[in-house]
Amino acid sequence: IYVLASEKPLKGMNLLITAGPTWESIDPVRVLSNRSSGKMGYELAKVAVRLGANVTLVSGPTSLVAPYFVEDFVKVESADQMYREVEKRFNRSDGVIMAAAVADYSPTKKSDIKIKKGADKLNISFKKTVDILGELGRKKGEKILVGFAVESQSLEDYAIEKLKRKNLDMIVANQVDAMGSDKNTVLIIKKDGTLKRVGPDEKERIALAVLTELADFWSRSRG
Ligand code: CTP
Ligand code: CA
Repeated sequence: IYVLASEKPLKGMNLLITAGPTWESIDPVRVLSNRSSGKMGYELAKVAVRLGANVTLVSGPTSLVAPYFVEDFVKVESADQMYREVEKRFNRSDGVIMAAAVADYSPTKKSDIKIKKGADKLNISFKKTVDILGELGRKKGEKILVGFAVESQSLEDYAIEKLKRKNLDMIVANQVDAMGSDKNTVLIIKKDGTLKRVGPDEKERIALAVLTELADFWSRSRG
């Protein structure tokens, strides 16, 4: 995409973006994860820099290269680690986009040694992880919060429910089949109830559409 040098609608904004899946360790060689590639979050980081934001990217494990010109690039593995790194940087940020596909559950205990193949069945018990975005929503203050929602059904209804429950300004809803793909079709839903469908298009263009909406909140928050 082409952005005019004079178009810097996110100028001065300290923006925290999360991307990628998380890895929840089962033992030293095995993890529970999901199909997120991190592309959407990395495209958001790249385009946000072009639009003038100071971007910090907190990323779960991906095979992607950190975009140029991000202020800070923080690699994490688990949901717990992501929570800690985001938490640390929340006060300094004007807004957060949680594009990461954070695991909802993590094994109750991680084995220090590799689990050997034995019985025909293996049961692993899981506990819920922290809802990072939910926690940020509780202490939102003047910050701009953007969530993502991945759904396989009732996309719009579930996304609106999450927008409200997590106290967000905006939510970007996508179907599960966008995971791992270069393309995406999304619904961008704002807290005032407005809804926009964007795509199918390259994730870079989807990122620009999302950040253009974000710029609206940013300009209003500065009066
Ligand atoms: N999220 C988060 N911490 C979690 C789980 C999700 O911060 N432990 C964030 C995601 O980054 C995303 C938003 O919450 O921005 C919605 O994630 P999603 O998985 O769609 O919703 P959940 O609330 O986890 O509900 P469910 O998976 O049951 O649909
Ligand atoms: Ca989830």
